[in-house]
Amino acid sequence: METKTVAVVTGASQGIGRATALRLARAFSAVVLAAREKNALESTALEVRKSGAEAITVACDLREPAAAEAVVKNALDRFGRIDALLNIAGAVPQIDLFEMTDAQWDDGAALKLHGARRLTIRAWDALKKTGGSVVFMSGSAAFDPKPGFAAVAAINAAILALAKAFAEQGIKDGVQVNSVSPGAVLTHRRETFFDKWAPAHNMTVQQAMEEFPKQVGIARFGKPEEIAELMAYLVSPAAKWMTGAALRIDGGEIKGI
Ligand SMILES: NC(=O)c1ccc[n+]([C@@H]2O[C@H](COP(=O)([O-])OP(=O)(O)OC[C@H]3O[C@@H](n4cnc5c(N)ncnc54)[C@H](OP(=O)(O)O)[C@@H]3O)[C@@H](O)[C@H]2O)c1
Repeated sequence: METKTVAVVTGASQGIGRATALRLARAFSAVVLAAREKNALESTALEVRKSGAEAITVACDLREPAAAEAVVKNALDRFGRIDALLNIAGAVPQIDLFEMTDAQWDDGAALKLHGARRLTIRAWDALKKTGGSVVFMSGSAAFDPKPGFAAVAAINAAILALAKAFAEQGIKDGVQVNSVSPGAVLTHRRETFFDKWAPAHNMTVQQAMEEFPKQVGIARFGKPEEIAELMAYLVSPAAKWMTGAALRIDGGEIKGI
């Protein structure tokens, strides 16, 4: 009998996480989908099943410590193994450095940094058993911090370091760990970014969406499916020797080497 392979994807209800789950449905036997919105998760699950993979949903708030336990328990109870963990959920507030409150900083870190950290720790033993792979989601702001989005930059930079620390442990434990830093990808989150960026640049949202690529020096926005392809590569057998890498996929936005 063929061994089932199981991927866990957070943020799978929309955007990059949903695109990644759908892409992984072509490579894994089963995909475990986590985020808060049950209905949106079920819609992703429906699409995953159409590709021939099994899917279960775990509706949870990954800021809560108990969520990591729920995701891993559901995955192991149903499928008995975890081969890949893709930590994609993130919603760091996009607020000016001088206006952002401690509570807003804590909230951003609670999901994107600590949610991913806790889930990876909770899934680690299962990943050790399969020689599995983990991908952390950072973002290009880590490489180009601006005062308007300082928390996004700082938390993304912390994720690069966190992923590297897990990767170092993973060399001993047989678990591969990398991080991905997308640039501007058109998703719901990017639209909310323009709600702030447009007035700050005296533009309408429509004008801002046309102007932004020119201002940051890219030919166009990225698509969630393009990020999903890289995520799928990183958890594929072809990438097995790649670990501890921090990969940028940003249409050339970051100009430094
Ligand atoms: N789009 C970009 O330009 C861009 C650039 C760089 C990095 N990124 C990163 O890519 C990741 C995905 O972003 P996206 O653009 O695809 O955003 P998105 O469309 O807003 O998706 C965010 C995902 O995170 C989930 N999520 C939010 N709060 C949660 C919580 N408390 N518990 C569990 N899940 C939660 C959301 O699901 P629910 O609402 O159902 O919980 C959703 O599935 C984020 O980490 C983001 O920082 C995006």
